[in-house]
Amino acid sequence: MIHALAQELNTVLDNTALGPLLSDLGRRMFFPKGIIAQSAEAKESGRTANATIGMACMDGSPVTLPSIQKHLPFLTGPEAVAYAPTAGNPKLREMWKQKLTEKNPSLAGKNFSLPIVVPGLTAGISYLCDLFISENDVLLAGDPSWDNYALIIKARRNAQFLQFPMFSGKGFNLDAFRAVMNEESKMGKIRVLLNFPQNPSGYSPTKTEAREICSIIYNAAQKGASVMVWCDDAYFGLNYEPEIENESLFAFLADIHERVVAVKIDGPTKEDYIWGFRTGFLTFAGKGLTEEHYTALSKKVMGIIRSSVSCASTPSQSIMIKALENPDLKNEKKALRDMLERRYRKVRSFVDAKEGHPILEPLPFNSGYFMSLRCKTVSAEILRRKLLSSYGIGTIAIDNETLRIAFSSIDEDSIDTIYKAIYKAAEDLANE
Ligand SMILES: Cc1ncc(COP(=O)(O)O)c(C=O)c1O
Repeated sequence: MIHALAQELNTVLDNTALGPLLSDLGRRMFFPKGIIAQSAEAKESGRTANATIGMACMDGSPVTLPSIQKHLPFLTGPEAVAYAPTAGNPKLREMWKQKLTEKNPSLAGKNFSLPIVVPGLTAGISYLCDLFISENDVLLAGDPSWDNYALIIKARRNAQFLQFPMFSGKGFNLDAFRAVMNEESKMGKIRVLLNFPQNPSGYSPTKTEAREICSIIYNAAQKGASVMVWCDDAYFGLNYEPEIENESLFAFLADIHERVVAVKIDGPTKEDYIWGFRTGFLTFAGKGLTEEHYTALSKKVMGIIRSSVSCASTPSQSIMIKALENPDLKNEKKALRDMLERRYRKVRSFVDAKEGHPILEPLPFNSGYFMSLRCKTVSAEILRRKLLSSYGIGTIAIDNETLRIAFSSIDEDSIDTIYKAIYKAAEDLANE
């Protein structure tokens, strides 16, 4: 039985490309006019008292234990311990929206939703799966991909994760992407996840590739399919080569076609180096979507948040607002970005000097935190174990062919030693 409030939202969304894309759970979801909504009303109009919310208050503010407050000297009680609104702190949402346009100039003048705060990008992806993937639906993504996608889609949602080969030669495999999009367009709906800079390869498309990716998406919609593109921009901004497209695909897809809806999954966890703060955003855009549609969609997401974690962490959001207000942030971020770029250059020159190596071949990489080596004649898992036991070096075997190295987490002056060890271990294994 679908709740009347859910039905109202469905009626609004059924007029858009989103209607056919909602999952069964997505269709049932709504944001109740319960405690949170009544409490928000009381906050505005409860002049005498606000006896709505389950917090302990004195003089209208939440109490804070001194043992907690002393570690947060620059946050007020409400900034530190009060519950955050379900969709996140409105000021942070506005600030992030404005930053999106600054970082992606093509978004200027385009219509897109207010970002919704989620407790990290992982939660954002999981919520999208809740709302848009029913059992046996398909989510497309590159191969290799971040391993958590498969866990969410296959284990949590009992749906299908269909991967296309990401690379052809030194670039993005446009032919494979076109073929899988063509094939899936026959089903009438496509959900596709594109993650750049990518985990685990460290690849971002060039400007030409980005244009072609968008045109493949446009063509699938033109053939009649409703297409939802999930842009996982976790590592946004960490581009190290001039030919890379600097803007998110989201900026180009925001108004590309009436049947294309784009969602940007991003946040400061990696962009602003606050991994454990658990703060991320979901932002939606689509040609022809209006404020009414975005509000209905936000209510669906808020229902998902309210029924799982209730809201994201307050101190993280309060600190993020203060950081975004600080004019020093830009330079501080640049210093860390430059540090990562120096590591990238070192790795780049090491592996470039090994061009044509018979055992290890880097997957194309030009951005982000990682690079991966394709193990041509040895097992990535056996190499990983050997590196750990003989050299004390930890790496990740993504699958039996792909060894991921997070150069983001190794100091610049250890890079040569570590990469020499990796190649030596692989050669020793091949000669065994
Ligand atoms: C591609 C990608 N997306 C999302 C995430 C998750 O980010 P968060 O820590 O904000 O949940 C990661 C983390 O490793 C990632 O590599």
